[in-house]
Amino acid sequence: MTKENKSKITKICCIGAGYVGGPTMVVFADKCPHINFYVVDINEKKIEAWNQDDLKKLPVYEPGLDQLVKKCRGNNLFFSSDIENNIANSDMIFISVNTPTKTRGIGAGKASNLMYVEKCARQVAMYAKNHTIVVEKSTLPVRTAEVIKTILEEAQDSIQNNPNKPTFDVLSNPEFLSEGSAIKDLNVPDRVLIGGESEEAINKLCEIYKNWVPEVKILRTNIWSSELAKLTANAFLAQRISSINSIAALCESTGADIREVSRAIGTDNRIGSKFLDSGPGFGGSCFKKDILNLVYLSKHFGLPEVAAFWESVVEMNSWHQHRISKLIVQKLFGTITGKKIAILGFAFKANTNDTRESAAIQICKDLLEEGANLIIHDPIVDENQIKIDLKTSNNNQKTNLQFSNSWSFTNSLDNVFIEAHAVVILTEWSEYSNIDWVNIAKMMKKPGWVFDSRLIVNSKKVLEANLKLWRIGDGT
Ligand code: NAD
Ligand code: UGA
Repeated sequence: MTKENKSKITKICCIGAGYVGGPTMVVFADKCPHINFYVVDINEKKIEAWNQDDLKKLPVYEPGLDQLVKKCRGNNLFFSSDIENNIANSDMIFISVNTPTKTRGIGAGKASNLMYVEKCARQVAMYAKNHTIVVEKSTLPVRTAEVIKTILEEAQDSIQNNPNKPTFDVLSNPEFLSEGSAIKDLNVPDRVLIGGESEEAINKLCEIYKNWVPEVKILRTNIWSSELAKLTANAFLAQRISSINSIAALCESTGADIREVSRAIGTDNRIGSKFLDSGPGFGGSCFKKDILNLVYLSKHFGLPEVAAFWESVVEMNSWHQHRISKLIVQKLFGTITGKKIAILGFAFKANTNDTRESAAIQICKDLLEEGANLIIHDPIVDENQIKIDLKTSNNNQKTNLQFSNSWSFTNSLDNVFIEAHAVVILTEWSEYSNIDWVNIAKMMKKPGWVFDSRLIVNSKKVLEANLKLWRIGDGT
């Protein structure tokens, strides 16, 4: 399939202008002023939002992103809905579309839904003109490159209006950025992983990264290792969080303190100190989806024990979230019906507007189910997004109506605490660590509770304000 092609890459198209496609291409454009980058999306509203003048309203919130967009947009970075022409004119195409978990059919609830990726491959087959390097940026099940290749090769045979018969190489180049620190992660990655068969195509992608990434950090693997390494990295990270959260529960029962335990084990440099913060359970669009995908693949390849091992990481996470909701109810005398509870933070972590799989969704739903009245604060998340997230998945109209009447939203901390029985901190936004608890206590019902699932409040100040305090993993 590879045709000798020594020409340099001058035009790159990225399909998918989401949390990965957007920031990734912004940083690429900043680092490679000699290349033009075209970010396309089927969602025209999203493209409009990337193109608007008010940089505070970009579709993705990431520290530092707005300034880079300002610098590059219109120079060598373009956001466009013209998918056809941008594919046709590009030498390299990144596929950065969503790969959610399938909700129906074979593998429902676990396998990745590859319909968006397949659609992209068909679009590329249809419009590409010359030799094109197709790069998997999305996180994909191992062996997806094979599917993409087959589509690229075979779909063309049935396409009448593409007389050019382009040739293709497929590479896997998974993205390891974390939301909230995406710009830093892209500027200074721990490593860049490139998997593929064609040495020449790999070299071309390497040349792009070498504009800012030292060559020793660019790892070359076979394509299947690259695909599997991405799923494995996320599974290992999520596994650490489930591990530490399981021990947090044990700390609470035994008088130990999870922060001390984390520090004690983290100083063993075989274990390392990162990703050992106990919290309300991992969220984000990828950990759960990628582990479930690993579970599905393990089962598919006849390895049920491997599947069960990884599935337990997700089960622990879900148990942990419900554990927090139950504990809130217990501490508030076994009932929260009609009680006002202030929820601080709805994003799945600080410094992002993303709420996908946020622990706040499950915990808020549990509290609403128990009859609480919630006032939800988040400095960045949009109220409409919370509305979507708090709808029940079974679309039960009665429950949805009941839920929607039982919560309100504010992005100002001024009125959140009035008459509240409890404050529940779910996202580690920095402004929550500086709350004046003495003042807040005066506004709250007595006894007033603070539930800190992120270990960010100053416990002394909370207790001095005569508030009761529960902190995750604090059994002291
Ligand atoms: P996203 O939902 O934010 O963005 C995906 C975009 O692709 C959407 O805007 C959608 O409209 C667009 N799209 C879908 N099909 C299309 C098509 N045929 N043509 C044009 N546009 C199309 O998703 P995301 O968070 O950016 O994730 C993308 C991929 O990257 C996923 O596989 C994810 O697992 C992986 N990933 C995500 C992160 C992260 O932090 N979010 C990090 C690393 C890897
Ligand atoms: C994660 C990975 O860290 C990235 O490397 C990967 O590229 C990305 O998934 C992906 O594939 O989507 P992200 O989900 O953006 O990044 O955020 P993380 O910082 O990993 O946090 C995930 C969740 O774990 C958050 O809810 C966070 O609050 C929680 N967490 C994280 C903890 O509870 N404790 C920790 O010590 C670290």
